[in-house]
Amino acid sequence: MTAQSDGTRAPGTPRLGNATGLSCRECGKITDLGPFYACDECFGPLEVRYDFPRLTRADIQAGPQNIWRYAPLLPVPQDVASRPTTEPGFTKLVRADGLAAELGMRRLWIKDDSGNPTHSFKDRVVAVALAAAVEMGFKVLACPSTGNLANAVAAAAARAGIRSVVMVPADLEGQKILTTAVYGGTFVTVDGTYDDVNRLASELAGEHEDWAFVNVNVRPYYAEGSKTLGFEIAEQLGWRLPEQVVVPIASGAQLVKIDKGFSELAELGLVEDRPWRVFGAQATGCSPVSEAFARGWDVVRPVKPSTIAKSLAIGNPADGPYVLDVVRRTGGAVADVSDPEIVDSIALLARTQGIFGETAGGVTVGVLRKLLASGQLDPEAETVIINSGDGLKTLDAVEPAVTVPAAIKPTLEAFQAAGFDGAGAA
Ligand SMILES: Cc1ncc(COP(=O)(O)O)c(C=O)c1O
Ligand SMILES: [Zn+2]
Repeated sequence: MTAQSDGTRAPGTPRLGNATGLSCRECGKITDLGPFYACDECFGPLEVRYDFPRLTRADIQAGPQNIWRYAPLLPVPQDVASRPTTEPGFTKLVRADGLAAELGMRRLWIKDDSGNPTHSFKDRVVAVALAAAVEMGFKVLACPSTGNLANAVAAAAARAGIRSVVMVPADLEGQKILTTAVYGGTFVTVDGTYDDVNRLASELAGEHEDWAFVNVNVRPYYAEGSKTLGFEIAEQLGWRLPEQVVVPIASGAQLVKIDKGFSELAELGLVEDRPWRVFGAQATGCSPVSEAFARGWDVVRPVKPSTIAKSLAIGNPADGPYVLDVVRRTGGAVADVSDPEIVDSIALLARTQGIFGETAGGVTVGVLRKLLASGQLDPEAETVIINSGDGLKTLDAVEPAVTVPAAIKPTLEAFQAAGFDGAGAA
């Protein structure tokens, strides 16, 4: 790798910490750091390269209680922690004994990323994209989104004092629409699917040179933010890698980068390098990666989504083939669950752990159950699942599964008559 020093950088190259360049994930061609996302040789997607310094656990532990404790492992300016960002990360890793007992598992953990500033893991990727984008001279933060990314971009831009342009399919959950609009940026609802919105974003990125579409033209930097999920899981387990991890898939970037985060920690000697298995979770109504896995394909055939798990409704996932690589390399699997199974799993998570996940969380818990039942997941192996978003943003989904009792008069008689007194009462 190229050493990081001024002499090795092209003029005008942005200063993004220990990042040294971009490399093509297909042909390996190396490019300078900059606002590039596709290989000029083969159009393959680009990925950030680094020259990591020697880093100790103590160095990391001395950092802030957010993702910037891992700044040396991210493509961000060195002083990122002192800039105005939403400071996401360091969310709780909850020991899930209640759910484990219900499912017959020995040791289960939930990485509860609903605890982020806008209540999903997207705050991580957006914070990294914003820091890199500002350094590269972009003036506007933009995105096509299935909802959570819209919240995160609008909030992060507001905090940084720059303009946001956020585009979503018009049929999103009302909660996600409101929790984006409140930040006051440019908010565009589009009559179409996410994949339509994504195509429009690619066209706009070509028209507006100073707009950073976080998941399009600055995608190599954005995607690196999800490594912090892998870093935190390992650190919170006491600098140990889990044996199994179950991750929801929309574009697939989160899954691929959690695996990359584990690999980097092992390469740096920060954790013991022992095998881990990565499992992917989709909703049956949008399961192109699960289908490709089941059929043994290397490519993913696009689908038109139809599921209550709208945050995962990406029919043409950019990282689909890389998900297949990771899952097959580590001995994992990809599976999918139906909408009723998603709702049932949201309720199970809430009942056993007191955690109200969004539909993506229901997908992940549902797939955990399914893979345990099929014997693909080992109930004896230490397992982490990701709850990537908050149930308060997908309220409609749980309505059929929840019974709200009729109001009673404020009297002892009414309380007893309704049956609330007995041991077996609801
Ligand atoms: C709550 C939630 N979980 C998971 C994902 C999947 O992320 P990725 O696109 O990185 O696969 C998304 C994407 O929008 C999401 O909103
Ligand atoms: Zn290439």
